[in-house]
Amino acid sequence: MENAGGRVAAIAVPLVVFALVAAAVVLPPAISGGGGSSTTSNNRERHAREHFLRHVPHEPQKASQLPATTRPVKTVSVGAIEEGLARSRAAIRRAAHAEAAPAATRRSFKHGGGFVPRGAIYRNAQAFHRSYLEMEKKLKVWTYREGEPPLAHLGPGADIYSIEGQFLEEMEDPRNPFAARHPGEAHAFLLPVSVCNLVRYVYSFNRTAKLGPLRRHVADYIDVVAHRYPYWNRSRGADHVIVSCHDWAPLVTEANRELYANAIRVLCNANTSEGFVPRKDATLPEVNLADGILRRPTPGLPPSNRTTLAFFAGGTHGAIRKALLGHWLGRDDPDMDVHEYLPPGQDYHALMGRARFCLCPSGFEVASPRVVEAVFAGCVPVIISEGYPPPFGDVLDWTKMSVSVPVARIPELKAILAGVSERRYRVLRARVLMAQRHFVMHRPAQRFDMIHMVLHSIWLRRLNVRLPY
Ligand SMILES: *[C@@H]1O[C@H](CO)[C@@H](O)[C@H](O)[C@H]1NC(C)=O
Ligand SMILES: *[C@@H]1O[C@H](CO)[C@@H](O)[C@H](O)[C@H]1NC(C)=O
Ligand SMILES: *[C@@H]1O[C@H](CO)[C@@H](O)[C@H](O)[C@H]1NC(C)=O
Ligand SMILES: *[C@@H]1O[C@H](CO)[C@@H](O)[C@H](O)[C@H]1NC(C)=O
Repeated sequence: MENAGGRVAAIAVPLVVFALVAAAVVLPPAISGGGGSSTTSNNRERHAREHFLRHVPHEPQKASQLPATTRPVKTVSVGAIEEGLARSRAAIRRAAHAEAAPAATRRSFKHGGGFVPRGAIYRNAQAFHRSYLEMEKKLKVWTYREGEPPLAHLGPGADIYSIEGQFLEEMEDPRNPFAARHPGEAHAFLLPVSVCNLVRYVYSFNRTAKLGPLRRHVADYIDVVAHRYPYWNRSRGADHVIVSCHDWAPLVTEANRELYANAIRVLCNANTSEGFVPRKDATLPEVNLADGILRRPTPGLPPSNRTTLAFFAGGTHGAIRKALLGHWLGRDDPDMDVHEYLPPGQDYHALMGRARFCLCPSGFEVASPRVVEAVFAGCVPVIISEGYPPPFGDVLDWTKMSVSVPVARIPELKAILAGVSERRYRVLRARVLMAQRHFVMHRPAQRFDMIHMVLHSIWLRRLNVRLPY
């Protein structure tokens, strides 16, 4: 950890992806109603030695009980698809160990601006580059057509959960090059259910029923596609994807045990203490698009003009904010520009563009739209959270472009941030600017932008599964 003379704790990024893709895991046989045949336990033993075993469900089943015999259906040949993925894994592994990108790799870059990831913000720039190119060459995602808007195929396109609607919209766009033309060619299957819209249209109608109807809706959706097509049963959900930014998405995905335990859940609420498993689930960045308009990042003021040490404005949501505001609110310290609600006439984004560091504490849930806002304002994020793997953490090395402060050290915030040398600060900020392209949204999506980075997170997790054939 190279922050502030080692006084700042490392962000817990539990996933080094290029080790991840080194070992694809063949799915264990179907879990039979809890009984555990000898094949299952043999397989479990064998896989227990592997690093990246997909967990057997650890959550009590909430909705549908699995029938006693669930076997992968073999009506669709997966041979060609799995062989293609195996070649991609091998290519990524080779790239990860290469000294530098060979000239041939650079020349093979054809379309769309020729961006080549380089620099310290990447855990392994060559491996990421190769993986990204393999994704562009191969990845096909089938979005199930079942379900009616607004509960499916549509999500919010504005406000703090906007990424959910933006992502669904992009995947439903016929121009999307990653959209499979036929489910038979797909590597991954998107369940286009919007948890946000379930909350908005189902929960708000009858709050006394709590999450029950939302879970039933998701369970029914899976039952329908699992009956109609062979894909869900074939992988027991492991090559299926659900994308949601709603705080309740982790709870709603408990609707189906295989969805919870096997599927790739791409969530803003990525709390590792609440069942989020970084090697199979992925962190979705939370983006506050107040008016639904896609904006461009700015560099903000240059470092020498950034006169405020740290900036924060936000409500007292949850324990971490309470600790932060409890200590720093109303201190009248010009270095620590900490507000609960901004006084009228103040421009939140401009203040971020003027501060050296932007505080990004968790709120009611782990995610904070401030991480993306800070990156957009050229402000170095200060991540104050617990059990939160930051977005794209398997590609981006957040320790190189942010500061992570443990909750217990909130009272030392000023000393920690003031202790970052000018030289170090300029390096951190320059890297924040380098990372901006990965947090921008375009319509249609563009290479290396946020939507495609989310797809890349899905691609990496799909690479970690090998279907039997
Ligand atoms: C709301 O849900 C509760 C619990 O499921 C149910 O008893 C009640 O009848 C529902 N109310 C309406 C208006 O549907
Ligand atoms: C998938 O499994 C479920 C539960 O065993 C079964 O009811 C369904 O018919 C299967 N789907 C297909 C397409 O065979
Ligand atoms: C930064 O500060 C310098 C010196 O105070 C000033 O000349 C310059 O215009 C400022 N730059 C910006 C972008 O505000
Ligand atoms: C993450 O989950 C744990 C366990 O439920 C909970 O105590 C904690 O408050 C959650 N974090 C946030 C920021 O909500």
